Amino acid sequence: MDKIVIEGGRPLAGTVRASGAKNAALPLMAATLVAPGSHVLHNVPDLRDTRTMLRLLETLGASCERQGTIVRIDTTSLTGAEAPYELVKTMRASVLVLGPLIARTGYARVSLPGGCAIGARPIDYHLRGFEQLGVITTLAEGYVEASVDTVLKGNVVYFDTPSVTGTENLITASVLCRGTTVIKNAAREPEVGNLIDMLNAMGADIEGRDSDRLTVRGVERLRPVETEIIPDRIEVGTFLIAAAATGGEVTVAGCVPGHLPALIEKLRSTGVDIGETGDSLTVRRKDAGAGGRPALKSVDIRTMPYPGFPTDLQAQFMALMTQADGVSVIHETIFENRFMHVAELRRLGAEIKVDGSAAIVTGRRREELCGAPVMATDLRASASLVIAGLSVPGTTEISRVYHLERGYENMVDKLRELGAAIRTEREENQAGAT
Ligand code: UD1
Repeated sequence: MDKIVIEGGRPLAGTVRASGAKNAALPLMAATLVAPGSHVLHNVPDLRDTRTMLRLLETLGASCERQGTIVRIDTTSLTGAEAPYELVKTMRASVLVLGPLIARTGYARVSLPGGCAIGARPIDYHLRGFEQLGVITTLAEGYVEASVDTVLKGNVVYFDTPSVTGTENLITASVLCRGTTVIKNAAREPEVGNLIDMLNAMGADIEGRDSDRLTVRGVERLRPVETEIIPDRIEVGTFLIAAAATGGEVTVAGCVPGHLPALIEKLRSTGVDIGETGDSLTVRRKDAGAGGRPALKSVDIRTMPYPGFPTDLQAQFMALMTQADGVSVIHETIFENRFMHVAELRRLGAEIKVDGSAAIVTGRRREELCGAPVMATDLRASASLVIAGLSVPGTTEISRVYHLERGYENMVDKLRELGAAIRTEREENQAGAT
């Protein structure tokens, strides 16, 4: 199996450029299904997940072509309406084709995603919302079948918690509805805003961007679009935390600093300097505190929907807290099982206790931590192990790296350019990853 090998303990230094956001690219690519024609998306990251989405769109009859970061998707004629189990099991975001297919053809069949490493992750909000628009949903043989009863009609939809892909699916399902749809307690993540901008550029009428109340007035038809994916705030955050953890100075260029309010605030509270200029962020850690104590201070975090602290940066922040001065309490409120990285961080010497949805991290001096073989359990957990491996002395070997490749574009190369001693060791004849 492929693995990442890191010789830790070197500070990162230099400039790195942010890639396009995975979590924006996926809904925007899916949304091309809603209007027939040739769409052009810029700044699409080349990742395992975006490749899976292209395969899924091709299964549905679209023709897709990539040139660097530009992806052309022609959805003039669709020939299928099914997201098969083989694709959904490798990428839950496959459910994002439900909304656009319902809007355009009135029918979709999508394999029901099972639980995953970080929790049960149901799609009941999506289905309830579709039903309120006049969609009949049935479950058979592990597939959700959604078909429009007579006509899609606008309605008021309320989410118990603001689901990101749920909001995206409801927006795309309702853009061609008869009448007006109001989505209450909608997700406000920047990726949702990116989708709204794209659909409005296609001729949709959506109001309330960046708020928790969206109004979608149905229009007759939409036209194809040329648009751009926003920078990946989770990738940016991961680099900022990695620089803070290794004690270096790193500039992340091509980002939107305003998309990371909670992380920037929390990093500053740890004592790290963060400078903002235009579309770049520079992080600098003052090293070695008095009496050999770490210069980093422990701070508590609580994951929340945007603009709160993102659950997708929780594992990485925990890696940083393992070497901070004091005790940090990390509350995970979004997913029920998102502490799989704890056992692996402990293998590097970290002191972490888990009590329900809280992890209590007692920081240790960097010299008390040491590299070890560890296993990646999910995408963001992998990033946290990379950060930990980069910052502690000794060799860390991370197996199951395919998780990382799902969501980070060229992470190993980007880190090497910042001075990290990191490499991927490929093993031949390996079995396909899930
Ligand atoms: C998206 C992101 C993921 C991120 C997550 C939370 C994409 C492709 N993925 O996932 O990286 O970690 O947002 O920021 O954008 N829930 C239900 N029923 C539903 C839907 C959600 O109970 O029908 C619950 C979930 O179990 C979870 C919470 O709502 O506890 C929020 O999940 P949600 O925002 O839907 O996550 P995703 O959209 O799957």
